[in-house]
Amino acid sequence: MKLLEDRIREDGQVLGADVLKVDNFLNHQIDPDLMMALGEEFHRRFADAPITKILTVESSGIAPALAAGMAFHVPVVFARKHKSLTLKDNLYTATVYSFTKKTSNEISISKKFLSADDNVLIIDDFLANGQAVEGLIEIIGQAQATLSGVGIVIEKTFQKGRQLLDERQIHVESLARIAAFENGQVVFAPEA
Ligand code: G4P
Ligand code: NA
Ligand code: NA
Repeated sequence: MKLLEDRIREDGQVLGADVLKVDNFLNHQIDPDLMMALGEEFHRRFADAPITKILTVESSGIAPALAAGMAFHVPVVFARKHKSLTLKDNLYTATVYSFTKKTSNEISISKKFLSADDNVLIIDDFLANGQAVEGLIEIIGQAQATLSGVGIVIEKTFQKGRQLLDERQIHVESLARIAAFENGQVVFAPEA
């Protein structure tokens, strides 16, 4: 998606060998007009799927997931990383390992908000090693809901997440695909 690639070229900062900092429009400050455009693009790309619910993980997935929810006019549910006073019983839970941080996190969703009747579109900000998405897919399985697809804002094709999802024949749409970082510059891959 050209609008997004242009914005990444303009405002993205390459950190080290494999990280893109996009905190001025996605991960800290959020550009609402850009988010709405991303939501419309997800809607266009998954127009044929009977989506009833958008699913993401807090925190950085919420903005693009909400934008998608507005385009599809369906509820948005975010998995929580911390249990709380009001979130402790009747949960679907999965363990998510972060290769980046070398830690495991539990993510949970109340059973109230996902059922066997749901057709789910997963949305997330980044697809790197794919562990967050795998955790959400596990939860969708626990709920016996149907996974319709995965929509990603920024995919890094050189990490293994995309391959894991392709092997499972999941419909993945990434709005920007980064093939490499070279000399501090982003090299985009052709859209899949
Ligand atoms: P994975 O889910 O693909 O396996 O991700 P990984 O463990 O590699 O990454 C851990 C966190 O770092 C995730 O956010 C993920 O979205 C984010 N991340 C991965 N690659 C990049 C990158 O190149 N740039 C940026 N800005 N973030 C990246 P999280 O811990 O779930 O945090 P958040 O949602 O609260 O922001
Ligand atoms: Na994320
Ligand atoms: Na993140």
